[in-house]
Amino acid sequence: MTKPIVVAVTGAAGNIGYSLLFRLASGETFGDRPVILKLLDLPIAEAQKKLEGTAMEVLDCGFKTLVGVQCSGDANVAFDGASWVLLVGSKPRGPGMARADLIRENGPIFVGQGNALQRGASDMRVLVVGNPCNTNCLIAASNCAGVPKERFSAMTRLDENRAIAQLAGKAGCTNAEIAGLTVFGNHSESMYPDFENATIRGQPATNVIGDLNWLQTTFVANVQNRGKAIIAARGLSSAASAASAAIDHVKDFERATPAGQWFSAAVWSEGSYASPAGIYTSLPVSSDGKGGYSVVQGLQLSPWAQDKVAATNKELLDERAVVADLLKG
Ligand code: NAD
Ligand code: LMR
Repeated sequence: MTKPIVVAVTGAAGNIGYSLLFRLASGETFGDRPVILKLLDLPIAEAQKKLEGTAMEVLDCGFKTLVGVQCSGDANVAFDGASWVLLVGSKPRGPGMARADLIRENGPIFVGQGNALQRGASDMRVLVVGNPCNTNCLIAASNCAGVPKERFSAMTRLDENRAIAQLAGKAGCTNAEIAGLTVFGNHSESMYPDFENATIRGQPATNVIGDLNWLQTTFVANVQNRGKAIIAARGLSSAASAASAAIDHVKDFERATPAGQWFSAAVWSEGSYASPAGIYTSLPVSSDGKGGYSVVQGLQLSPWAQDKVAATNKELLDERAVVADLLKG
């Protein structure tokens, strides 16, 4: 049998977990490769009972690729030998809150879990979903001595997917006809969805849409505020779309990105597009399909767009200052 891939998921008893686990186990994400799921939730009876119930349902799907499901309340156990770790477990915001309001409550979770991630496999990659995800990613990575910062990323793929859906709706085209859309910066209301380099059926999106004012105002605001709009409508934060974006993120890192394409992910800043050092910021990323990735260079941003990117990165520096006491190295 091919060696199974071990995938750990935190907050697995929660809403996102309930949409995510099945698609990790089914073969959709890792193809024919056998999968072992290691599920973590809080070490309290209520959470562990719910976790067991979710695991029962995953088993009951009878996925041919699933060769094991283990439940735990201990991150050291859950992360042991994992090649992918999806850090979802944390509190979601409610109506009227900003994601950054969660920072002091959720941030400490990623200190202990960051430390436990040292038990991961030598090829471990970590995706942080729990909000505020860019800064939680920074906390986890800085507490995980010896593991390169490039093995960590945070999820802005949901924002990219939202932006594509908004453009397709406006242009009257399919999602598949849109390319080159990057979300820059923070998964927050300052994020910048770059329409200047996006194309629709191979033509510049700006030409096809033909309404720069709509792109600069309504489009950008709709993407920035979509999470809040979903909370207002559902009374709960996005879950199925978030899980779907997490699957997209993992798949995009697992496969080699076709030439000329890229995807959005918050990665360790190395200065591209004037991003400051020492933060996880969303950028256009291309994967080599072998565990490595690079930031796609050469996208042209107008001075207006450069200001937007600078503002969202400034917010990440401010968030970093708020959690300075949780950061190690
Ligand atoms: P939820 O409340 O339904 O589930 C969270 C789960 O995490 C619960 O089962 C809880 O018991 C568990 N948990 C809490 N602390 C934990 C810990 N220390 N260790 C292990 N498990 C723990 O929430 P949800 O809807 O699944 O959302 C989870 C997180 O994802 C939230 O922070 C939310 O804001 C975030 N989110 C991010 C994005 C994104 O695009 N980055 C999108 C949607 C949601
Ligand atoms: C989202 O973008 O839907 C999530 O980050 C949840 C939220 O708080 O907006």
